[in-house]
Amino acid sequence: MNPNNPSLITIAIDGYSSSGKSSMARHLAKTIGYRYIDSGAMYRAVALHALRNGMISHADNSVDADRLIAALPEIAIDFEVTGDTQSTLLNGENVETEIRAMAVSQCVSPVAAIPQVRHALVAMQQKMGESKGIVMDGRDIGTTVFPDAEMKVFVRASAQTRAQRRLSEMIEKGIATTFEEVLANVVSRDHIDETREESPLRCADDAVVLDNSFMSVEEQNKWLIDLYNRIISSL
Ligand code: DC
Repeated sequence: MNPNNPSLITIAIDGYSSSGKSSMARHLAKTIGYRYIDSGAMYRAVALHALRNGMISHADNSVDADRLIAALPEIAIDFEVTGDTQSTLLNGENVETEIRAMAVSQCVSPVAAIPQVRHALVAMQQKMGESKGIVMDGRDIGTTVFPDAEMKVFVRASAQTRAQRRLSEMIEKGIATTFEEVLANVVSRDHIDETREESPLRCADDAVVLDNSFMSVEEQNKWLIDLYNRIISSL
């Protein structure tokens, strides 16, 4: 509990890529007046730094882990909120659009599998959540970053549904790609995220599971707020 405001809790929302967890998490945070942190954006910002500095192989998207680990102290990640939009800052530069491009999606899972990268980002995330009143989404929030979170949700949906959702988002942003390319990326990232040694994607034992394959955005948002209200009234 935060001694200054005992009603504030920590909310961890984990799940597969493109499961819609970020939109749900952002909506919940806005509704209840909490801070929202997209931890995936932090891994993407590190991957972008690696990409820009020639640490990713063009041949197979493998990472020069030694160089990236040595560069970690030079990487500052922050978030900037303007009205309803939250942007990711990499060393002060707004990289929100660039971190969503396919080039970053293709190398982010190998970057996120490096234990030293995870340790650095987990420490930053834990600091951001020190005062509670936070909704954070990712892969290891309920298991590693905030194992004592009062509310934990694990979101799943079929790979086809998730690829279709990501494709629509990318088309909307004018990013050129195909369904096959997006589906292959979703499946490959699931595999790397689930099988890496350091905090693999896993449902926390005390998380509530939501399969949103056949739910509308409004239904998901309502489901999440109802769960929050139930948890708050039981504390
Ligand atoms: O949620 P996303 O697709 O933006 O995440 C990008 C990548 O970062 C994804 O491949 C998994 C990784 N990630 C992670 O390992 N741990 C987190 N807490 C968040 C994301």
